[in-house]
Amino acid sequence: MELREGQVAVVTGAASGIGLAMARRFAADGLKVVLADVEEGALDKAAADLRADGADVHARVVDVGVRQQVLDLAESAYDTYGAVHVLCNNAGVGSGAEGRMWEHEPNDWQWAFAVNVWGVFHGIQAFVPRMIKSGQPGHVVNTSSGDGGIAPLPTASVYAVTKAAVVTMTESLYAHLKAEHARVGASVLFPGPHMLRTGLWESHRNRPARYAKERPRRTPYRSLDQWESAMKAAGKDVAFTPVEEVADLVVDGIRADRFWLLPESEHSDAQIRARAASMLDRANPSYLESFILD
Ligand SMILES: NC(=O)c1ccc[n+]([C@@H]2O[C@H](COP(=O)([O-])OP(=O)(O)OC[C@H]3O[C@@H](n4cnc5c(N)ncnc54)[C@H](O)[C@@H]3O)[C@@H](O)[C@H]2O)c1
Repeated sequence: MELREGQVAVVTGAASGIGLAMARRFAADGLKVVLADVEEGALDKAAADLRADGADVHARVVDVGVRQQVLDLAESAYDTYGAVHVLCNNAGVGSGAEGRMWEHEPNDWQWAFAVNVWGVFHGIQAFVPRMIKSGQPGHVVNTSSGDGGIAPLPTASVYAVTKAAVVTMTESLYAHLKAEHARVGASVLFPGPHMLRTGLWESHRNRPARYAKERPRRTPYRSLDQWESAMKAAGKDVAFTPVEEVADLVVDGIRADRFWLLPESEHSDAQIRARAASMLDRANPSYLESFILD
């Protein structure tokens, strides 16, 4: 679709990282932005910074895992601006699960599913009917990940399962929108191709009490800086993709009506080929073995 000044973009998880970069980019292109996030202090700061740069901003504290809050977000976005053209279901968390799957706490799964899967579904249900009904062009971007969206990292398997669900949900959404001849498109985003310097490693900062861990972690949470130092100490180079590049990929993809917002990467392509070959050959998924840690 054509992105034009005065249109409205809604971004969930907009107070930090990729969501904030997308909001900044939409605002720079003259769109009004609706910022939704569960972390009030960071949201207030993001909104103030964007307004200081001249953006038209509506910010709202929302837990995307709570259906009524997402329905209320849509209500307030339409009350404020009268239309929504772009919806980015981007809020996401790492689950904090440790060890093997049979040792995981159900709350690790409940929380990651509430935000990463139900959050996207609630966004679709709250906004898409009105976007279609308006008859105006629109686009939905759902944030997946190479982890799960392409192939699972078994050490982050809960997250991977949720991000695989986001791909399938978006493929289904795409088909349903086509079947309705809607003027609304859909894309699935794989941020990258490298690591991103965002708050994802500190996802536990937003973990609600209703999904609290039932027992203390065996190992403390590792920050991105700690992980980077450990990699460097092991002689491994770590590359980062700037979040602004992800935002550019999203805007270009919406303009081109591209479904797969998948940055060029030999590593991802090799994973996709290995997985597809394993299925086509009815062979066991040996490509996962290189990821499995003792
Ligand atoms: N960082 C990476 O390397 C990477 C890679 C692939 C995919 N992703 C995905 O990108 C998206 C954005 O993550 P990020 O890396 O920018 O991390 P981030 O932590 O910087 O941003 C995520 C935002 O979502 C918000 N959030 C968390 N729970 C929420 C909830 N219940 N309701 C509303 N908002 C909530 C957080 O407060 C935060 O502002 C996520 O879906 C993540 O899974 C990230």
